[in-house]
Amino acid sequence: MLKKIYASAVFGVEASTITVEVNVDSGIGYHLVGLPDNAIKESNFRIAAALQNNGYKIPGKKITINMAPADLRKEGSAYDLTLAIGILSASQQIQAENLDQYLIMGELSLDGSIHPIKGALPIAVKAREEGFKGFILPSSNAKEAAIVNDLEVYGVDNIKQVIDYFDKAVSLEQTIIDTREEFNKSLNFPEFDFSDVKGQEGIKRCMEIAAAGGHNIILIGPPGAGKTMLAKRLPSILPPMTLYEALETTKIHSVVGRVKDTGLMAQRPFRSPHHTISNVALVGGGSYPQPGEISLSHNGVLFLDELPEFKREVLEVMRQPLEDREVTISRAKFTVTYPSSFMLVASMNPSPGGYFNDPNAPVTSSPAEMQRYLSKVSGPLLDRIDIHIEVTPVPFDKLSEERKSESSVTIRERVTKARESQTQRFSDSETVHYNAQMNTKQIRKYCALDAASKDLLKTAMERLNLSARAYDRILKVSRTIADLEGSETVNGTHISEAIQYRSLDREGWLG
Ligand SMILES: Nc1ncnc2c1ncn2[C@@H]1O[C@H](COP(=O)(O)OP(=O)(O)OP(=O)(O)O)[C@@H](O)[C@H]1O
Ligand SMILES: [Mg+2]
Repeated sequence: MLKKIYASAVFGVEASTITVEVNVDSGIGYHLVGLPDNAIKESNFRIAAALQNNGYKIPGKKITINMAPADLRKEGSAYDLTLAIGILSASQQIQAENLDQYLIMGELSLDGSIHPIKGALPIAVKAREEGFKGFILPSSNAKEAAIVNDLEVYGVDNIKQVIDYFDKAVSLEQTIIDTREEFNKSLNFPEFDFSDVKGQEGIKRCMEIAAAGGHNIILIGPPGAGKTMLAKRLPSILPPMTLYEALETTKIHSVVGRVKDTGLMAQRPFRSPHHTISNVALVGGGSYPQPGEISLSHNGVLFLDELPEFKREVLEVMRQPLEDREVTISRAKFTVTYPSSFMLVASMNPSPGGYFNDPNAPVTSSPAEMQRYLSKVSGPLLDRIDIHIEVTPVPFDKLSEERKSESSVTIRERVTKARESQTQRFSDSETVHYNAQMNTKQIRKYCALDAASKDLLKTAMERLNLSARAYDRILKVSRTIADLEGSETVNGTHISEAIQYRSLDREGWLG
């Protein structure tokens, strides 16, 4: 007897439906065809045990399983449940009339319990698109799949539940989520809040500007100054995610099987990979491509703590995706693209010992050591960072102050307003949405200076010995400062403030 049952394969952040045909005939043998990988080929052992332990069996007949389309590579153990139910149905051990209305996926363990799968959200999106009635999957993935409307989602923990559902019409509990309500609920409660940071008003201002214009930023300061603490709070002042952005971000996290209990991720992600990270883990890849940290930070913040400690080549591979806002991974037979639009926040100590020009420093570094250390971050990556700011530790009396400072939600309101004027400014452009993305032509157009401001900038650049690459960056940041103020034009005050945010261009640093 021939039966069809459905599953899905994920490529990039999109899923494709897989038709699994199971034919049970007289004879003997077990054949699995249609480009399955090793994990799938091994599935018969798991399936045999799982069935046995639940009172069923793989029949001693000739079983042929075809996974179509045959040219699409299928990988992983998520098809165990699909195949097991297919075999039971094709060998008439169970009645399953409406099997073809469902997508069924899950990894089996030997006792028949069901383990999570990757990519439940993109699979659910595709299932709805193709008109399936329901999606039966591991219960720990049910919430992320239930984000999709108009699809019945059933989370299961054991193969027995699935068997009884089809064979004995024992009902399964449907997972229902009001996506919009969940989304709105979590919007206003950022995990980390700027009100926890005492003092540091100047740095907070700086981060507000960075958030408002989408500027990449680097924080320079000695150990314990609060760099990590500040960076962690940046997502909380970025404009709230739209439902569409939240879906995009959740999809990527779903693909690596890392969606938390909330189902939909309504908070912007904050990723902080260790400096020993490999190229593949950072930008994505591998023989079965997986998204890397830059994609997991999509619509959020990527924090590179201790930037000079990262291997230079790792930083190099990040340059292109930083520009394109997506990363493409090519393999012989296919290419996948993962979105990677993130804000980069980096931090560094001012010297390998951690201190710079500080007479009380416990460690000192020789000029040669300093030069070697700093030269690691010079060049192309630094070219993509608009704002440099020095962070000095807050004195004790400020730290012990009771007074609460401004909350992230309040700062975010100003940021959002400034972003709105940018959205309007660049409404004609498909690629540019905020100030940090401006090209040279747009900088000339939107950051036009009067004679006095021009003079001011020229003098400052000469006096502070700023490099030429600082020029455009200062203009972009000035534009954002003006936007925060609601000013049409960029004036001298805006310029003077922006000039302060170029520490690394000054003499004595990177030179
Ligand atoms: N302005 C501040 N307000 C409140 N707590 C602070 C502040 N600055 C530092 N701290 C406290 O000091 C701790 C250390 O800060 P953090 O880890 O962010 O420093 P860092 O600059 O990243 O240091 P390192 O270079 O060692 O990584 C924080 O966890 C926090 O408890
Ligand atoms: Mg730190």
